[in-house]
Amino acid sequence: MENWFKDWFGSEEYLNVYKHRNDEDATKLLELILKQTNPTKQNHILDAACGAGRHSIYLASKGFKVVGFDLSKTLLLKAKEDAKNRLVENNFVCADLREIYFRKKFDLIINLFTSFGYFKNDKENFKFINTSFSLLNENGFYVLDYLNKNFLLANLTGESEKEINGRTIIEKRKVINNRIIKEIQIKKGPEEQHFVESVRLYSKAEIESEFKRIGFTPVFVFGDYDGTNYDEQNSTRLILFFKK
Ligand SMILES: C[S@@+](CC[C@H](N)C(=O)[O-])C[C@H]1O[C@@H](n2cnc3c(N)ncnc32)[C@H](O)[C@@H]1O
Repeated sequence: MENWFKDWFGSEEYLNVYKHRNDEDATKLLELILKQTNPTKQNHILDAACGAGRHSIYLASKGFKVVGFDLSKTLLLKAKEDAKNRLVENNFVCADLREIYFRKKFDLIINLFTSFGYFKNDKENFKFINTSFSLLNENGFYVLDYLNKNFLLANLTGESEKEINGRTIIEKRKVINNRIIKEIQIKKGPEEQHFVESVRLYSKAEIESEFKRIGFTPVFVFGDYDGTNYDEQNSTRLILFFKK
């Protein structure tokens, strides 16, 4: 259970369950990020927990210098194939958020679509934020796209079912010890697979306080990919921009 993220994101099924998290969804968020941070083509961008590379590949296709890293070899393979097919530079690395280090520095670090809060304690969850502070150039940005705790708690759907690519996907959700636990059951013909997600629920205040302690300054906050103002109760997302 502690290492749930290795099994789940290492499986071929993650991309089926989150099929709606596609290139269009990625482009929308990146347009908001590019508008707010305004990087030049000489700037270096790090996509932390890049998954199958949908954000990295868009940025590379626009001429930015991007490195993406992730723990899942399955998703990185997809990222590399996709980059090759789209004729964009392929800079994907396999590494753990808790252990990664680079010699080079970056001007923008992005951590998108709830790729935060997976580990067993705050020390591990914020380890990469500490690392990022030293990986960023002065005035560099860190962008965190994370769930909005209050909205999630008020709108939790206990159980839902969907059909995708010939699979029945049943998702059961509950909150235990300040974590959102999702059990995912995937049925395909006679085959059945089970996975778990377990994400620590942090409030905006808790995240900001830890980033500030590390040395970051909060600069902008949005509540969805359209760039709507953040509202603690009603926003679907918590999108935080910090500056070094
Ligand atoms: C919800 S997905 C988001 C992927 C990508 N950012 C996107 O939006 O498509 C979370 C990602 O975090 C990665 N991940 C989980 N634990 C990790 C770790 N310890 N180190 C690096 N990446 C990790 C997973 O493999 C997965 O690709």
